[in-house]
Amino acid sequence: MSAPALSVILDGDPGLDDAVAWLLALASPELDVLAVTTVHGNVPLNLTTRNAGVVLALAKSTVPYHAGADRPLLRAGLTAASVHGDTGLPAGGLSESTRPPAPEHAVQTLISVVRARPGEVTVIATGPLTNVALAFRLAPELPGLLREVVWMGGSTAQGNRTPAAEFNALADPHAARIVFESGVPLRMVGLNVTMQCIATPERVQALRDLGNRAGAVSAELLTFYAGVYREKYGLSGGALHDPLAVAAVIWPELLTWAEMDVQVEVQDGANVGRTTCDLYGVTHRAANARVAVGVDDPAFFARLLERIATLP
Ligand code: BDR
Ligand code: CA
Repeated sequence: MSAPALSVILDGDPGLDDAVAWLLALASPELDVLAVTTVHGNVPLNLTTRNAGVVLALAKSTVPYHAGADRPLLRAGLTAASVHGDTGLPAGGLSESTRPPAPEHAVQTLISVVRARPGEVTVIATGPLTNVALAFRLAPELPGLLREVVWMGGSTAQGNRTPAAEFNALADPHAARIVFESGVPLRMVGLNVTMQCIATPERVQALRDLGNRAGAVSAELLTFYAGVYREKYGLSGGALHDPLAVAAVIWPELLTWAEMDVQVEVQDGANVGRTTCDLYGVTHRAANARVAVGVDDPAFFARLLERIATLP
């Protein structure tokens, strides 16, 4: 008999790699997606919320989606339209959702869903952590009620938006710090592993060759950002950041993990948004996260492809 599906909430800022990540989640029987919550990030909140509806419609999913925080806790908002296009979902022929977002605020949904299932819910966060941090402030018992938060963000090494900071961390460092200091069981899937998972032209073609809509849209989205990755990072395609965070929940064995202390820098300056990871335990501070330090990239992509194939 197969294990019961894991209850998850998908919190993110679609965003083209968020979209592929959510398709992977919605295609995976190991996960029971209870709700989707949107946050500011790659594009403004009205667009991430619109895009959530579009992605759910593409997967023919009726999971409710909720709009959340439209800005970071303290800093000015940050977007990434140069990477994700002005809409955040640069693919042709996508249908608008016929279902509007559910009226409840994303932060309230996070709180009520987790309270209703103590110890059961995993939040897969693929954007700035503003919604999660607000939920922890409004309901301080929440970190103790969650099964886990798995976050795509940060890096054990260099950043991508600045030399020091990864985009999701920089887009709300105060929120990230609240989550890292909350005591919640936390796994971090950062750039040090996601930049090893590249949507090469061959992989994009494999998605297109699946012959379904989800494969074609994923291929188009990943093609859009390949140019940026070629120019900026000298890579042969876009990085599969957010899909790897979903994969980490479904197949944790695809990654290697190390427990360590992670400090999020919130002071303005060159290092703001940096996640300083005590990889070697030199501070002797207690670990506050399990950090991905290695990935089996070929196995990850093979499984991603297999799952996208099952969608409409
Ligand atoms: C992260 O930033 C966003 O632009 C992507 O969607 C991903 O979540 C990578 O740094
Ligand atoms: Ca994202």
